[in-house]
Amino acid sequence: MLNAECIEEYLNSPLWSIHSFDTVESTNILVKDYLRNSGSEGFVAVALEQDGGYGRQGRSWKSPLGGLYFSFSLIPGSNKNVSSVSLVVALALKEAFENLGVRRLQIKWPNDVLINKKKACGISLEGVAGGICVGIGINVFKPEEVSSNLSSSYETAYLGTELFEHENKVVGSLSNVQKRFLESLVIEFFNAFSSLYERWKNAGFGIFCSAYNSVLFNKGQEITLETITLNTIVEGIVQGVDAEGKLLLAQQDGSVVSASSGEVHTKH
Ligand code: BTN
Repeated sequence: MLNAECIEEYLNSPLWSIHSFDTVESTNILVKDYLRNSGSEGFVAVALEQDGGYGRQGRSWKSPLGGLYFSFSLIPGSNKNVSSVSLVVALALKEAFENLGVRRLQIKWPNDVLINKKKACGISLEGVAGGICVGIGINVFKPEEVSSNLSSSYETAYLGTELFEHENKVVGSLSNVQKRFLESLVIEFFNAFSSLYERWKNAGFGIFCSAYNSVLFNKGQEITLETITLNTIVEGIVQGVDAEGKLLLAQQDGSVVSASSGEVHTKH
């Protein structure tokens, strides 16, 4: 497992308490149980493998050795636009990846971080007992048996492939170099997220709008949006997101519609 003490030592905020595991069913389950038992903000569960990992809309999220899987509790209180925090989480992941040397990063609305147009990680958000459980799965080192965890048509990107010439795959177990890298990913993420989260709590998503729009994938392109709740399709040209993190889609008649949830599909 990763060294929780070593991670905490390098965190610049005392908010986070790291709980590290080799294999769990799902780090989301641990954090949700913690929240249901009157847990507070900042509980982090991190695992090297999950045997019951899941993604958005209850889809399964394959979690073999080589990836990084973690979840944490947030209690943002009365902020009205809680779902926009997942866009801020995506921005923090992008910043963390950049700090570690990864390039060609973009965000596919609402919160998939892409490397060179391929999905490198997924973020889930669940409201539980007055708090939020944020779950993050990152493809880092290519697992021994590669099978895509992706629910969409996007190919998989691995951070390790971008950064390591050697040791970018899992061979049996993780090497010390690979474990240290996973630890530095956790550290970089929480150090980036801590300050963005404070700003989001004070000022809302609006202050992140232009940073988010500057890295938004599909901007200016025609897409279809599959909305989850209504099971309908909306089409349009991606304009960007608004101050609430909603996706703005220009219509042929010149009007603009905004969407607060759904899955973007590129039109070919
Ligand atoms: C998505 O559908 O893109 C979101 C995937 C979220 C996966 C992560 S891995 C850590 C945490 N535990 C889970 O079971 N899911 C999330």
